Amino acid sequence: MAKVCVITGGGSGMGLETARYIDKDVILVLTGRTVGKLENAKKILEEEGHQVHLIPCDVSSRRDVHELCLLAAGLGTIKTVIHAAGLSPTMADPETIIKVNAVGTKNVNMEFYKYMNDGGVIVDVASSSAYEAPGILVKHQIYEEAEYKEDAFIKHMTGEANLAPDEYNKSGMAYVMSKNFVVWYAQKCAHEYAKKGIRVVSVSPGLIETDMGSKEVEKSEFARKMIDLTCAGRMGTAKELGFALAAIADERNGYLCGIDVLIDGGASTGKKFKEAMKE
Ligand SMILES: NC(=O)c1ccc[n+]([C@@H]2O[C@H](COP(=O)([O-])OP(=O)(O)OC[C@H]3O[C@@H](n4cnc5c(N)ncnc54)[C@H](OP(=O)(O)O)[C@@H]3O)[C@@H](O)[C@H]2O)c1
Repeated sequence: MAKVCVITGGGSGMGLETARYIDKDVILVLTGRTVGKLENAKKILEEEGHQVHLIPCDVSSRRDVHELCLLAAGLGTIKTVIHAAGLSPTMADPETIIKVNAVGTKNVNMEFYKYMNDGGVIVDVASSSAYEAPGILVKHQIYEEAEYKEDAFIKHMTGEANLAPDEYNKSGMAYVMSKNFVVWYAQKCAHEYAKKGIRVVSVSPGLIETDMGSKEVEKSEFARKMIDLTCAGRMGTAKELGFALAAIADERNGYLCGIDVLIDGGASTGKKFKEAMKE
């Protein structure tokens, strides 16, 4: 049976670049909300020799994700899920960010778990900003509720984000909290899904030069400072992250699971070393 790799957010940025590194005998399923973006990605990938199917889906809708799984499973054995769909602070209000980034990840992992078996892998894309979450707001008992009390989870997470002072910072806090959830949830799933032989790992990119990353750099002083703290003094490229995501998903990486892989160009260690060198 043919192998299938599903890429959420596959129409652009890191999702699209990851697809380019997937073996050409694997059927690619690209998903996202905007059909035009998906069609453009399909054209690029087909020109490079990939087999591509498009299944539009909003990951914040459990029903959409369920349909996506059914259709993808009809194409072959789902071996790989790269869950790159997400919204950044400049793109939406706090509640939408929680629904897409946090609830979307819960929907993707829970639904695909049912359709995947031994040797399968789910890679959830989080963010280095997950590590900026204020300890006092990180409540794992609330995170647990995402699976069985979704409305209460959304209300709680949105309420915490709304404690921030202005619109951009409210969405920023929703982003930070939603990605902190993704890191935690991927680890929880890794330990649960291992009983079916499914590997789960999250990846936390730093600032990456995609439409999303560039918008954040334009808007946020903090983001610009982060670039200065990297070893090379630059943003990462979507191509670099695409390669990393595909390599992490590769079955030869079988021992990589239950952990977050931080790919931030050294920004998080820059405070310790780079600033000390300036003194
Ligand atoms: N770029 C950065 O600096 C950076 C840093 C850390 C983490 N990340 C994370 O990396 C991932 C990929 O981002 P990117 O930089 O490659 O940006 P991107 O090009 O904007 O990719 C995000 C993709 O997610 C899709 N998407 C958004 N909402 C969706 C929804 N509700 N359902 C399904 N698909 C949805 C978008 O397509 P539609 O709008 O058509 O749905 C888009 O193709 C995101 O999870 C982001 O949070 C990015």
